Parts: sequence; structure tokens; C-alpha cells
Amino acid sequence: MKLSKRLEKIAKMVDQDAFVMDVGCDHALLDIYLIKQKIASSCLASDLHEGPLEQAKKNIREYKVENEVKTALGNGLEPIHDGIDTVVISGLGGLTMIGMVKYTPFRLNNVKTLILSPNSDCVLVREYFLKHGFYMVDEALVEDHNIIYPVLKLKKGAKAYHKLDYHFGPILREKKEEIFYQYYQKEQTRVKTLLAILPKRYIKKRFQLKRYLKAIQKYALAP
Ligand SMILES: C[S@@+](CC[C@H](N)C(=O)[O-])C[C@H]1O[C@@H](n2cnc3c(N)ncnc32)[C@H](O)[C@@H]1O
Repeated sequence: MKLSKRLEKIAKMVDQDAFVMDVGCDHALLDIYLIKQKIASSCLASDLHEGPLEQAKKNIREYKVENEVKTALGNGLEPIHDGIDTVVISGLGGLTMIGMVKYTPFRLNNVKTLILSPNSDCVLVREYFLKHGFYMVDEALVEDHNIIYPVLKLKKGAKAYHKLDYHFGPILREKKEEIFYQYYQKEQTRVKTLLAILPKRYIKKRFQLKRYLKAIQKYALAP
């Protein structure tokens, strides 16, 4: 079974014998892979919509992992239960991820590890989780079909961070690999385009974007 490069990177970040909740599992291919590769001990594949969950159930049956991969219909972390120590949320917007935790943080009480791959607002995701009881243990940028995706692995605990860590990732900005410069070159273009079309009344969003653009131009473009 072949995973996308992004899901493969996420799988590599999962700790051995983890009990994983995959929020927004869609096809549940990640969960099936984690069991087949003997990385996770159990998985809860959850989704907000019945359509994807039906497909997930079909795949789970086809790969004969019904004992190890259970499914749940629900919004965000609602279906979480005791025993789950790792939560994966990937392929959803950053603000959606934050919203899943902000008003019900107790749902993460027993969770030790978070693996997040937001489609958008990665800066806000880093800032939120690094300020709310998690620290970064691994971070990667993965290119898949010409799109570069961030993947973050966080553990429960606190560390002090500089504001540049929220913009560029404490580990990514330390490593500064080739893909880091490619990603922020693309981010510069994206932010400039967004600023050109975002109405002036979005004062806070425009301020955040301008600050981000300035930081990219100062710290994250190829020398
Ligand atoms: C783009 S797919 C991502 C699939 C997979 N996680 C991945 O990274 O390839 C997003 C999935 O999240 C589900 N979803 C959207 N909002 C959700 C929410 N609030 N709670 C749970 N699942 C959600 C959608 O139904 C969809 O199946």
C-alpha cells in the first residue's frame, strides 16, 4: 500500500505502539498503514461526514484491520476516549484545528503527542499549540505534487519560544534546508497575492499578513 509523501512523513513521526486518533481520516489509509507497518497498536479513525467514513470502513475491511482500526463519526476531538495517546490532524485548515481544541482543551488531557499538518495558517497553529501546553519535537516540509506541506510533531510540555519560531518553526529555521527557502519563496508570493485582494476592513488579518511578509523577507529567503 502506497501513501502520499505527506502521509508517509506523518506515519514516520508516529511513536512505536501509539494509540492514534486520526481526526478527519477520510479514507483511513494512514490508520491502515500504521497497523500494517506495526507502528501503531490501535487507531481510531474519525470523520465529520458519513461519506468518507463509509469509504474508511470499506478500506478497513478490505485490509482486514477491523480489530485494530475502529471508526467514529464526530466533529473534531468529540469522539476521543481514554487510551488514545496520539492525535493526528492533517489536511484541514489551521483555524479548524485550533477551534477543535480552544473551547474543549480537556479533550487532550491524556494525549502525549500531536501530529499536525495544516493546509493553511500554520503560523497560527504553531503559536497556539506552543503557547498552550505543547513543545515541538520534530518538524518537516514535504513536497507532494508540487505543493509543500508543513508537518509538525508536538509533545505535551512547555518550552520558551521566540516569535520567529511561530513564523518559521523552531526546528525548520534551525535546519534551513533547501526546501525551507522554496517554501517561503512560495509563501511570499501567496501572502502578496492575498494582501492584494483582501479588503482593507480586515484590519487584523492584514496586519498579521504584513508582519509575516516582512519576516519572510528578512529571515527566510535564499541568501
Ligand atoms: C482533505 S481530507 C484529509 C484526509 C486525510 N486526513 C489526509 O490528510 O489526507 C479532510 C477530511 O476531514 C473531514 N473533516 C472536515 N472537518 C472535520 C471536522 N470538524 N471534524 C472531523 N473531520 C472533519 C472531511 O470530511 C474530510 O474527510
